[in-house]
Amino acid sequence: MSEAKLESMGLYRNIDRVDADLAALGVGPDDPVRVDQLTSFDQFHYEGTAAVDDAALALGLGPASRVLDIGSGLGGPARYLADRTGCAVTALELQPELHEAGQRLTSRAGLVGQVVHLNGDILSGPPDGAGFDAIVSMLCFLHIADRTTLFASCAAALKPGGRIFIDDYMQLAPLQPDAATALAEIVHCPYLPDAATYAAHLTSAGFVDIEVVDKSDDWSAFVGARYDAFRDGRDGLVRRYGEPTVAELDTFYGTVAELFDGAGLGGARITARLS
Ligand SMILES: C[S@@+](CC[C@H](N)C(=O)[O-])C[C@H]1O[C@@H](n2cnc3c(N)ncnc32)[C@H](O)[C@@H]1O
Repeated sequence: MSEAKLESMGLYRNIDRVDADLAALGVGPDDPVRVDQLTSFDQFHYEGTAAVDDAALALGLGPASRVLDIGSGLGGPARYLADRTGCAVTALELQPELHEAGQRLTSRAGLVGQVVHLNGDILSGPPDGAGFDAIVSMLCFLHIADRTTLFASCAAALKPGGRIFIDDYMQLAPLQPDAATALAEIVHCPYLPDAATYAAHLTSAGFVDIEVVDKSDDWSAFVGARYDAFRDGRDGLVRRYGEPTVAELDTFYGTVAELFDGAGLGGARITARLS
C-alpha cells in the first residue's frame, strides 16, 4: 500500500491548470462554460466521452434515471451524462480540492439542478437517500484495496435490480517488483485483482449478470498515444502550466504508459446488476 497521499498523484495536483486550459479557449475564470468546452480536460479516465457514452448506453440512462458517480474527479463524466441523457447525477468525490473545482464547473455549466456534488468517501457508505437506479465509476476503484466494503457500499446505494458500470484496472499477469512499486507509489493503486477475482468480489456483494470486458489493448494504445501527444506538446504545456506541473504530469503519464506496455497491468470494463 502506498504511504503517500492520493493528493500527491501527478494527475490530481495543480488543479488550477483547468483555468489555464479554459483561458487557452478564451474562457475567463468566472465565465459560463459549455460541457463540450470542458471535455478535452475534465475526463480523468481513458477514451474520453466515448467511454461515458458506453456507460449511458449500458445503463440505459434517460431523464428519469438517478445515477451515483463514484470518484467523480472534476465532474466531467457526471456533467456529460446529465447533459447528454437528462439524468440526475450525484457526484461523490473524496478529495476536497477536486470536489470544489468540480462543483464550480458544474455551476458555470448551468447544471446545478441536475448534478449534485458531494465531498466524501464511498468506503463510509452510500450517500443519504440512496436508492439509485445506477452507479457509474470510471477509474476510481483502482485506488481502493478494500473491495468488500466498497462493493457493500455500492450494493447499499442501489435499488434492487440497479446496474453498475465500472472502468478499472485488473491484473493480466503478476507484476515484477519494480512495476508493482510504481503502480502503488505513482498511480496509487494498492490492489490489482485478476478478472475472475474481480467478478468474485462483486458476486459476494450480491451482484449478478457480471460481465468483464478486457480493455487492456485499447487502453494500452490510449495511454501510449496520450504520452506521445503530451511529449510532442510539452513546450506549449510548459508555457501554459509551468515546468513543475508538466514534470509531475510527465512522470504520471509516462509511468501509466509503461505499466500498460506488457508489465502485467490491464484494463477492465465491468457491468453487473444488483440481484
Ligand atoms: C482517475 S480519477 C477519475 C475521475 C472521474 N471518474 C473521471 O473519469 O474523470 C479517480 C477519482 O476517484 C477519487 N476517489 C478515490 N478514492 C475514492 C473514495 N474512496 N471515495 C470517493 N472518491 C474516491 C479520486 O479522488 C479521484 O478524483
